Amino acid sequence: MDGMMSDPFREDVLKGLSNPQKSLPSRWLYDARGSELFDDITELPEYYPTRTELKILRERAPEMAEAIGPEAVIVEYGAGSLLKVRILLDALENPAAFVPVDISASHLEAAADELKADYPGLAIKPIASDFMASNLGEGLPEAKGRRAGFFPGSTVGNLSDAEILRFLSNARADLGDGACFIVGLDQPKSPDVLVPAYDDAQGVTAAFNKNLLTRINRELGGDFDVDSFEHEARWNADESRIEMHLKSLKPQSVTIAGERFDFEAGETIHTENSRKIALDLFAQMAEKAGWRLTRRWMDEDELFAVLMLEAV
Ligand code: AVJ
Repeated sequence: MDGMMSDPFREDVLKGLSNPQKSLPSRWLYDARGSELFDDITELPEYYPTRTELKILRERAPEMAEAIGPEAVIVEYGAGSLLKVRILLDALENPAAFVPVDISASHLEAAADELKADYPGLAIKPIASDFMASNLGEGLPEAKGRRAGFFPGSTVGNLSDAEILRFLSNARADLGDGACFIVGLDQPKSPDVLVPAYDDAQGVTAAFNKNLLTRINRELGGDFDVDSFEHEARWNADESRIEMHLKSLKPQSVTIAGERFDFEAGETIHTENSRKIALDLFAQMAEKAGWRLTRRWMDEDELFAVLMLEAV
């Protein structure tokens, strides 16, 4: 049936597992169970990014709101639970509209409805779309204030250079002249801090990573023996990134949608990059996409940065 032929998950899995270094795009980690496990990750003692970013937002939202100005239209890319944007909305003067963009339509509707109840005066216009694919242009509400993008969580660190350029250029075109963009960016730091953040003692991140194999089994009729794979978090210093892998503990073969894939003992599937991009490098990337870095807000240990970009 042609529905199967054009299933992007199936295509990505069959292609990724055919590479010499087997790999799977990290966006597939977020099915219902994966999203739940990710929410659990954000509360782990080792996982500093979420709580650090929340602290920066809580303490500095008035400055951010001042910089954005009154009657703004806020566009959140890859909006999840909408917890972080509330901090910004609470600080803003008369925000005109909020546009959460998220690939999961059901999750998005539920979160948007909850927000509507708490912000009765705010126009909320969710857009169900992959934030990478989005071309929001005319879909955005008009307002007197400026348009401000919001992309917290250092999700930008899951993207390649080319994807970051494409994403920031699209956002620049969508948000238009006079726009600004608030971006959360995790910072380079010691692997002694980074590795445990991605390989926690309770094994929540391991469950999050391995859930991808369970998802393949369920949705694509795979026969992964999930217990014969082990979660691994590696610091790749040359690329300044944490890599998540799933390591086969023995030689084995797996069949997915009728195709067979062989694993050697110790061979891995690379499932995620979480880049830790220094501010000057990110400023250069943003510049290429038509943005200038104008403000930065960091915690006192400089673990995490919240940045303000302005359209050039
Ligand atoms: C999606 C960027 C918020 O890379 O830190 C957490 C995903 N992966 N633990 C990150 C993730 C493993 C996370 N972000």
